[in-house]
Amino acid sequence: MNKLKIPLIVANWKMHKNFQEATNFINFIKQNTKNLKDREIAICPAYVYLKPLSQITEHIKLGAQNLHWEQKGAFTGEVSADMLKDVGCHYVIIGHSERRQYFFETDDLINKKIKIALKFELFPIFCIGETLNQRQNNETFNVIENQLTEGLKNLTSNDVLKITIAYEPVWAIGTGQTATPQQAQEVHSFIRQILKKLYFDETVSQKIRILYGGSIKPDNIDSLMNMEDIDGGLVGGASIEENSFLRIINFK
Ligand code: PGA
Repeated sequence: MNKLKIPLIVANWKMHKNFQEATNFINFIKQNTKNLKDREIAICPAYVYLKPLSQITEHIKLGAQNLHWEQKGAFTGEVSADMLKDVGCHYVIIGHSERRQYFFETDDLINKKIKIALKFELFPIFCIGETLNQRQNNETFNVIENQLTEGLKNLTSNDVLKITIAYEPVWAIGTGQTATPQQAQEVHSFIRQILKKLYFDETVSQKIRILYGGSIKPDNIDSLMNMEDIDGGLVGGASIEENSFLRIINFK
């Protein structure tokens, strides 16, 4: 491994695992990654288990899968940035394609969520990515530029340095069809170009971590991580089983 930034491997459990399963998993990963100093691990369980799990995570960082864009108020069933900080979250996933698709999250809403997360010192994992249709119509770069520009609207370069971007082509999520390392690299490098354009600053574009996500598996993680601009992975399906996630963490 020859990476300038510490790589980050994130488990996005979505709506999986009860408390006992989550506890066993975290204990297993903890035991088996004690001596890993050159990479960072984060786990994003369901909201309801964040607090008790924060007591056992140790070197594993805890993240939430979502948050509300307002600080507080009459929003039945929602969870705020303040609450997430309070229960021990370090990261929060924002703008996941499942939230865009099933919960109608717009770029504007995602921008608000990023801002409130930063205000409460949570580190956003900001997801962007094109659908299959958009890729087939050669719209990938436009879509990515637009999602970045809108999602990061009115943020300073200091703010942006606290964000991790996750490029997740929608057609690769949960489908078993991963982007090839070259396809992912092409978009990651484009993301850095856009960041440079938006912030007139080489530092931001070089320092920011860009994760890849979409059907990461033990047998494709090594080739993805070998790409220059891929700084880690956001893992869904393959983060459910502990040996599979451990192998992904141990990418070579
Ligand atoms: P997947 O999900 O690894 O199951 O494709 C990735 C994600 O949704 O973040």
